[in-house]
Amino acid sequence: MPMNRVFDRLIAAQARWARPLGDFNHRWLAALFRPVPAIADLLHGRWLGHPLHSVLTDAPIGIMFMLVVLDLIRQPIAADLTLVFGILTMLAAAVTGAADYSQTDGTPRERATVHSTLMVAALLVYAGSLALRAGAGPDGERGVAIGLSVVGFVILAAGAYVGGQVVYLFGNMVSRHAFRGSSAKWIALEPAELDEHGGIPEGRPVKGRLGINALALVRHGDRILAVHDECAHAGEPLSGGSVDDGTITCPWHGSRFRLSDGRVVRGPSVYDQPVYDVRRRDGGGWEARRRSP
Ligand code: FES
Repeated sequence: MPMNRVFDRLIAAQARWARPLGDFNHRWLAALFRPVPAIADLLHGRWLGHPLHSVLTDAPIGIMFMLVVLDLIRQPIAADLTLVFGILTMLAAAVTGAADYSQTDGTPRERATVHSTLMVAALLVYAGSLALRAGAGPDGERGVAIGLSVVGFVILAAGAYVGGQVVYLFGNMVSRHAFRGSSAKWIALEPAELDEHGGIPEGRPVKGRLGINALALVRHGDRILAVHDECAHAGEPLSGGSVDDGTITCPWHGSRFRLSDGRVVRGPSVYDQPVYDVRRRDGGGWEARRRSP
């Protein structure tokens, strides 16, 4: 049996405790970040156009691996400084991860709970190792402290594996439009609703069908603004959201996109939304095509 199947079963079996713990964590983290959307956005990485957590997680893994090497070649002072730096980068990764976790649902939340539990356990083991090293000094007995940091690295690696699953297996914080193609061809657009004059209703989003794609349409007078209906964050239909000041807000986690160009102006999405040009069709109706990103 491939190794990943064994790991997957083992991780899935943690759902019994991970689900209720994840729901509990989600409640207090959402309450913590809701009043400070600008800080949450900073931690999600909207300013970077990329999830910040995935950038920061690489640092502690590399640093803690270096710690194992430094312990192995008996460089106590360099090892201790590396451990302090590694713990600091783990804390930074934890804060950004907590912001993403507060907007994660379903099975990805369960797996993210296993991931974060392992990371907290690794952090505690590393803190114990640091305390023992500080007590022993560079020339003292460091066997247990070094042993603890090796255990910490094993837990860290296991946590990184589960974190990888949250992204690569469940697509959490991956753009929902990663594989969406675009075409220069104008295609007939079919709004799901029309008003009594045969036009697209004004003042609220309306779903429209464009070939295999669903769009969220917003009419401003004669102008029809259109973005893809599937929210870049986790796929919720934007046509169920609200329109305000030239933006459309996702009804699920509140990501907000500018209708004129699809730019994300509030997270948790860190990705823009595909935007479409719409025009009147000869003979009646509308046609649309995706604007080049
Ligand atoms: S699905 Fe999460 S903000 Fe839209």
